[in-house]
Amino acid sequence: MSEALVLVENRGRVGLLTLNRPKALNALNDALMDELGAALLAFDADPGIGAMVITGSEKAFAAGADIGAMKDLSYMEAYASDFITRNWETLRRIRKPVIAAVAGYALGGGCELAMMCDILVAAETARFGQPEIKLGIIPGAGGTQRLPRAVGKAKAMDLVLTGRLMDAAEAERAGLVSRVVPADKLLDEAIEMATVIASMSLPSVMMAKEAVNRAFETPLAEGMQFERRLFHSLFGTQDQKEGMEAFIAKRPPSFQHK
Ligand code: CAA
Repeated sequence: MSEALVLVENRGRVGLLTLNRPKALNALNDALMDELGAALLAFDADPGIGAMVITGSEKAFAAGADIGAMKDLSYMEAYASDFITRNWETLRRIRKPVIAAVAGYALGGGCELAMMCDILVAAETARFGQPEIKLGIIPGAGGTQRLPRAVGKAKAMDLVLTGRLMDAAEAERAGLVSRVVPADKLLDEAIEMATVIASMSLPSVMMAKEAVNRAFETPLAEGMQFERRLFHSLFGTQDQKEGMEAFIAKRPPSFQHK
């Protein structure tokens, strides 16, 4: 049997997904994205999991969509198969938080995959870029849309039009990544962060993710209304009572995730 393209592990309440095509720098092909999507959906449905981490290898989170697999595509084949978003959209449907732990190259589709996650943690070795322009194409999995929202138009245009790479420090300054850590601490830090998130009440975590994501889809007044509805609904959870009673009683809360 061939080796899995995505390694799946449980780390307490955290689901860890490791992209596993190291020789191809985790180039993202259809089979890998199918495996990743299936693993994400399984963790999302698992009540024992509260957050997920996607990581790659030391050298590459992912060096992009698989160039060999797409080089001979015709327009009709690309269009009819909904290339490449068909199985990439799965990540957007995941309701629990997903952290990208990025070391090495996160290029093209690899950068786009990382940006589809909710939080990016980068090793000092991380390098981000949208080099598609050098291949005679443009980003096809959200690079032209999510990158400007993350880093602003000026830097997004610079990266998308020149294809240059950005190191971890520049990515942190630009607001693309939330933390930069030494390479040998990357996975521990990402899992620690996911463990903290997974220890919170799951309904509030899921609604917080939904509300923040809505900020990028709606005008402010609509977003505020959406937030208020979710905020009020959380008073219907047991965990809200537990969280506030525990605060008053000066003890740690014991969340039941309901
Ligand atoms: N697709 C397919 N194979 C890839 C790949 C990719 N995106 N990136 C790297 N590889 C393969 C290489 O072909 C090579 O395979 P072989 O050993 O069989 O020759 C192996 O991974 C190692 O790569 P290199 O020898 O090139 O390693 P390097 O250290 O010299 O360079 C690199 C590293 C700068 C990341 C270089 O591999 C590179 O530029 N890769 C392509 C980056 C890129 O253009 N990504 C965008 C792809 S298009 C896309 O993603 C579209 C979209 O928006 C969805």
